[in-house]
Amino acid sequence: MSIIFNEKTQAFCLSTPNTTYAMAITNDGSVLRHLYWGSKIRKIDSLNDFTQDVLSSFAATDAALDGETSSENLLHECACMGGCDMSTPAFNAICDGFHMLVAPKVKSWEIIQGKPKLCDLPQTYIENDDEATTLEVTIEDESGIRIILSYTVYENIDAIVRHAVIRNVSDRPFVLKSALSASVDFDDRDFELLHLDGAWARERHIGRTPLMNGVQTVGSRRGASGHLHNPFIALVRPTTTETSGECYGFNLVYSGNFVAGCDLSSLTGRLRTFIGINPDGFEWHLNPGESFTTPEAVMVYSAKGLTDMSQTYHELYRTRLCRGKWRDSVRPVLINNWEATYFNFNEDKILDIAKQAKDLGVELMVLDDGWFGKRDNDDCSLGDWFEHKDKLPNGIEALASKVVDMGLKFGLWFEPEMISPDSELHRAHPDWHIHIPGRTASVSRKQWILDLSRKEVQDYVIDAVAHILKKADISYVKWDMNRNMSEIGSAALAPERMGEFCHRYILGVYRIMDELVTAFPDVLFEGCSGGGGRFDPGILYYMPQYWTSDDSDAVERLKIQYGTSIAYPTITMGAHVSAVPNHQVHRTTPLKMRGDVAMMGQFGYELAPATLSDEEKAEVKEQIIFYKKIREVVQFGKMYRLKSPFEGNISAWDFVSEDKNTVVLCIYNVLGYAAPKAEWIRLCGLDPNADYKVDGTDVVYGGDVLMNSGVKRRYDHDFVSEIIVLKKV
Ligand code: GLA
Repeated sequence: MSIIFNEKTQAFCLSTPNTTYAMAITNDGSVLRHLYWGSKIRKIDSLNDFTQDVLSSFAATDAALDGETSSENLLHECACMGGCDMSTPAFNAICDGFHMLVAPKVKSWEIIQGKPKLCDLPQTYIENDDEATTLEVTIEDESGIRIILSYTVYENIDAIVRHAVIRNVSDRPFVLKSALSASVDFDDRDFELLHLDGAWARERHIGRTPLMNGVQTVGSRRGASGHLHNPFIALVRPTTTETSGECYGFNLVYSGNFVAGCDLSSLTGRLRTFIGINPDGFEWHLNPGESFTTPEAVMVYSAKGLTDMSQTYHELYRTRLCRGKWRDSVRPVLINNWEATYFNFNEDKILDIAKQAKDLGVELMVLDDGWFGKRDNDDCSLGDWFEHKDKLPNGIEALASKVVDMGLKFGLWFEPEMISPDSELHRAHPDWHIHIPGRTASVSRKQWILDLSRKEVQDYVIDAVAHILKKADISYVKWDMNRNMSEIGSAALAPERMGEFCHRYILGVYRIMDELVTAFPDVLFEGCSGGGGRFDPGILYYMPQYWTSDDSDAVERLKIQYGTSIAYPTITMGAHVSAVPNHQVHRTTPLKMRGDVAMMGQFGYELAPATLSDEEKAEVKEQIIFYKKIREVVQFGKMYRLKSPFEGNISAWDFVSEDKNTVVLCIYNVLGYAAPKAEWIRLCGLDPNADYKVDGTDVVYGGDVLMNSGVKRRYDHDFVSEIIVLKKV
C-alpha cells in the first residue's frame, strides 16, 4: 500500500518510489493540513508541523477552531474562501449571496486500491489496480457544500495525481466560483517560478522568475490552453539545474481556460501554489444533488533536477496518458503539403508530391487545409466537410486509394471546431457559432468557433468527420484549431449559465474526440492549434502527438522543442523539415541541421520534393534511412537535456534506450565564432561501466568517460549539427 493512515497521529502518508507527501487531520477534525512533500522519508511521525505558532497581526482567529488559531497560519490541503484564510482559494462557492465555505471539516476518508475513473474528462490511467493507490478525503461545510479531494499515487512512477469533486448536499442551489484541481501550501519561499510561455510560432520558451510577495500567475482566458502559456509550472530552487536540485512540477490535464501560480503571503510567509480551471469568467451552478468534477493535476517532485522531473512526466504521459494502438507503435515519417502548396493544389499536384516522397522513403502523405467546400484561401468553408470538386474531382476516396496504391499511408487535415461565416453550414445554422445573441461576433482568421456546448453541434461534427474517415482509406488525421474565443456566448444556454460555457465547450470537444478516436482506433490523430497552441495533456489523452509549432526554422525549433520537453515526451512532438528561406523567420539553414533538429520528434517534411536538387534528394533519402534506424530510441528512450539553447550557442541532448545499449547524441551549434573555445558536452544516462562504440567508426569511449569528461567540440561556423549514435560494445 502506498498510502497509509496513522490512527494515532491522524496523518496520511502517500509514497511514490522516491517521494513522500504527507498531511494530517488536525484541530479536532476541522482541518486537513499539509505536512510535507519532498524526498522519501521513512516515518512521518517525527515530521515537524509547520503551523506558525505566533498569530500574525490582522489574522482573524477562526470561530470554528479553538479560538486561538487562524486559518491564515495553517498549511491547507483544502484552501477555501469564506473563513479566515485570505490567500488565493482553490474553492469558492456562493450560497444565498454568501461565500459559504466558512469552516469545512473532514467528514471521512477512504483508501482505494487502484484509480477510479473520472467521467467525461481526459485523465491518467492504470491498467491494473496494483499500479496505483487513491485516497479520497471528504470535507464538508455545514452549509452542505461537500468537497472530495482525490490523490492517486503511482506505485512505480514518482507522480501524484489530484482532482476534486464538489457536490451540493444541501437543499438549496449554490454557485461554484472557483474549483481548482490542486493547491499546495509551503512554509518555504526559497523558490523560483518556472513556466513555459510564448506566442504563436514561439511556443513553450522556458521562463524562470523570482517569487515576489503577492500573486503571480500564468494562465489563459482564451477558451483554449493557448500559445501564450502552457498549463505547467514548477517551483524550483534558485540553484536547481538539469541534473541537481529540487523541483515541484504542476501540470493540468485540461485544454481550456486555466490558471497556475503562486500566492506568497507577506503577512505569514506562507506560499500557496495552485493550478486549475481559471476562475475568471467561470461559474458553475450546482443544484441539490449535483456535482462538479475538476480536471486532474499531475504533480511531480524531484530532488535531482529538471531532467529527472521531466522524465517522470514523459514516462507517465507516454505510458499512462496517451492511449490506443499508437501509444506503443513506432510513428511514421510523413510529408505534409501545407508549406509546399498552401491552398493551391489539385489531385495531380498531391499525387506528384506523394510519388516523389515515396521515392525518398516517406511513409505517410498528409493533405492539409483546402480540400473541402470551396476553400481556395482562408476566407470560407470551415464546417463544409465535403470535397472541393474543382481541386479533387474524384474525391478524397480516389485520392486516398491512389496514394495507398503507391505504398504510402494517407492522412487528412480537419479543423472540426470551426465555422466560416461564408459556409453552407452557417447558412443552414445561423446560430451555431459562439456569439452573444443579438451582437455580431468578431472574426479571427475570418472564422468563428462552433458552439460545441450544444449536443446537436457536437453530433454534426462527429458525423461529418466520421463520414470522410469511413469512406476513404485514411490512416492519420491532423486536428487543427485556429482561433481563440471572443464574445463568449451560446444561443442555447440559459443566460444565468453563461459562466459555464467555456468548460462546457471543452467537454464538448472531449466528447467529440473520444467518439472519433474510439470509432477509428487505427487512425493516428495529431493535434494542432496554429502549431502548438493547445499542446496540453488534455489533448494528448485523445491524440498521442501534436504539431509542436508552425515555426519550423531549425534554430527557433531548438528552443521550442527543448522547452516543450520540460513536460512532454519527444514521441508527442511533431517536427518537420521545411524549405528555406524559412517561411516564418526567413532564415536559411542547411538541410542537415533542419533534419537533425526535426529528428528530435515525430519526423517529417513540409516542402515540395520537386524543389529539391538531386543532391538534396539524396541527402533527404539518407536522413530518412538514418531516422528509421534511430527512431525507436528517440520515440521510446529516455531523453536527457545536456545543454540549453536558452543559455548558449550550443545545445545538446541525448536519447538512451531502456537497456542503455544505444545512445543517440544530438549537438547543435547556432553561430560560429572565430577562434572558438572548446565546449565540452557531457552525456547522461549511459552505463558508466560499459564501453560505447561510435556507430560507423572504430572509436570507443567508456560510458564513464562520456558522462564525466564528455566530448569536445569547437565550432567556427554557423548552423552546425551532429547526431552521433553510440552502441554498447
Ligand atoms: C494552422 C496549422 C498549419 C496549417 C494551417 C492550415 O496554422 O498550424 O500547420 O495546417 O493551419 O490552414
